[in-house]
Amino acid sequence: MHPLRKLFHRLAAARRERRYRDSLPSPLRLHLGCGHIHAEDFCNVDVLLTPAADVVDDIAVLRKFRNGSVAEIYACHVLEHFGHDQVPLILRRWHEVLAPGGLLRISVPDMDRIVRIYTENFAHFQVPGHTPWIGLIWGGQTTPYDYHKTGFNPCWLRHLLTQAGFVDCEEYPHEPHFAGLVDGSLAHEPFGQFLSVNMLCRKLGA
Ligand SMILES: C[S@@+](CC[C@H](N)C(=O)[O-])C[C@H]1O[C@@H](n2cnc3c(N)ncnc32)[C@H](O)[C@@H]1O
Repeated sequence: MHPLRKLFHRLAAARRERRYRDSLPSPLRLHLGCGHIHAEDFCNVDVLLTPAADVVDDIAVLRKFRNGSVAEIYACHVLEHFGHDQVPLILRRWHEVLAPGGLLRISVPDMDRIVRIYTENFAHFQVPGHTPWIGLIWGGQTTPYDYHKTGFNPCWLRHLLTQAGFVDCEEYPHEPHFAGLVDGSLAHEPFGQFLSVNMLCRKLGA
């Protein structure tokens, strides 16, 4: 795209975002790291200006949202894009922006499932030209924000959530999927088995 056209596009998007943020939906529900998935009744947030994003923000910081102002957060296949040291800080930040009683729903690739599926299909990975599942393990690597830097299994995710102050951490099933979204949480390629762990928890309070 021509640089001037790109600038015009960015300015128009920033104006749209300002108007949107002046009348944020209530109760406020955030869809973090939305990518190209637009969730209805959510404020869709990504660091990149994707067609689905209502607000462009770094979800590690959530500069554009006030503490205690959010009723619900949904973050699918994005927490693994941050380093080991960053994850506890990010979960604390998400805890901070949630109102008392607010919900957090997270979906991430599940190392337990990945190891099991990999082992069951070991022969597949010995065929020349078949990668050792590099996209799933290290990310798609299509943008600077598309690299995996850490990993989870249900036990580790629950521990991190609890350390960040969340309570009632429970896994929830893949289907029927939350809010009717078809996103990373439903990934089951190429072996037809779900790869993610989905966890729901809440901030203590009302
Ligand atoms: C693998 S995609 C997942 C997209 C969607 N949630 C799904 O499940 O299909 C990860 C998304 O997180 C976004 N992302 C990565 N780091 C981010 C950051 N620091 N702040 C906001 N978004 C980020 C990327 O731009 C990308 O759109």
